[in-house]
Amino acid sequence: MTKKITFLGIETSCDETAAAVIRENDKGTADVLSNIVSSQISEHKKFGGVVPELAARAHLENIEYIIKAALEESKVSLDEIDGIAATAGPGLIVCLTVGLNIGKTMAAFSNKPFVAVNHLEGHALSPGLENKIQFPYLLLLISGGHSQYLIVKDINEYEQLGTTIDDALGEAFDKTAKMLDLGYPGGPSVEKFAKLGDKDFFELPEPIINKAGCNLSFAGLKTAVLRQAKKINGNDKLKFSLAASFQNTINKILYKKTKIAIEMFKEKINTSNINLVVAGGVAANISIRENLKKLSNEIGFKTVYPNLKFCGDNAAMIAWAGIQRFKKNLLNKTDVEAKSRWPLDENAPYMKGPGLKL
Ligand code: KG4
Ligand code: ZN
Repeated sequence: MTKKITFLGIETSCDETAAAVIRENDKGTADVLSNIVSSQISEHKKFGGVVPELAARAHLENIEYIIKAALEESKVSLDEIDGIAATAGPGLIVCLTVGLNIGKTMAAFSNKPFVAVNHLEGHALSPGLENKIQFPYLLLLISGGHSQYLIVKDINEYEQLGTTIDDALGEAFDKTAKMLDLGYPGGPSVEKFAKLGDKDFFELPEPIINKAGCNLSFAGLKTAVLRQAKKINGNDKLKFSLAASFQNTINKILYKKTKIAIEMFKEKINTSNINLVVAGGVAANISIRENLKKLSNEIGFKTVYPNLKFCGDNAAMIAWAGIQRFKKNLLNKTDVEAKSRWPLDENAPYMKGPGLKL
């Protein structure tokens, strides 16, 4: 029997301090031996968003305890760990540095391999913790900082088909929640209150819906929500209907854009076995899951979602990406530095800013 690889993963790119111990298993998926996530929701709640300095301080205060807890719960000693993986980007440098530095130091002192993980690759491979999915697959990555369609060809091999030209989808959810005073964190509260409203009550714009391939845009939608939010003046019933109409518009946009992305995928990859993986924090949204499931039944592809606990930021996905990279000998030296911007497809055009032609 070959030895199963075990990794410690560390994640501090935004507002979750997380550590996990993961071991690959005979099924080609993972045994999650521990997965500790300490959310900073209470710290950032009063500001309605993540405050970088507060986040960094909370990471510093918690990280040592979280790593110890993850090792203890896994019943694996540091000696038995085959390597250490920590998120090195993209994200807030002050936050990334906390987890990255402790990971690098632990690896250096224990003389173990170190992997600097791209947080987005963590999300991209996250369904693999529980499901063995064949490459290539189409990925819709929707989180607080990113919204992209990518072909995942292999570990470390990505082709971007489309991206947002302005706000990320999670950001649009968070801003909508803030404008409607629905509470923090925004995504889950919009989803909760949308259930109480009429999704067809407000007609909202679907920016760049008939152009720019599967690129996405949410800024115009956000402005329209703001305009309506001012008019309804705190009326609860209308607030819930605005949340519902916002979510419904997102679903209409994702439905149409995913259809285009599937067509592009088919053109590039000759396969009848199409898997769409939806990952990142926003992939926890049940109405989005159901909406894309409907599309998949209509045009014939399979949707794969990570377990809810692996959608939001966590270190299990970082350890898992670490194991995959380790197996391909994609290791890093311990002088690797944190990066605020780190696209999965380095050749993809930069789609933001003035002068953008669609
Ligand atoms: O992946 P993630 O935890 O962090 C980043 O890498 O950004 O994603 C966080 C984002 C936040 O914007 C949050 O509001 C959103 O995911 N989110 C949701 C839901 N749960 C989290 N958005 C919509 N519906 C949800 N249920
Ligand atoms: Zn994330």
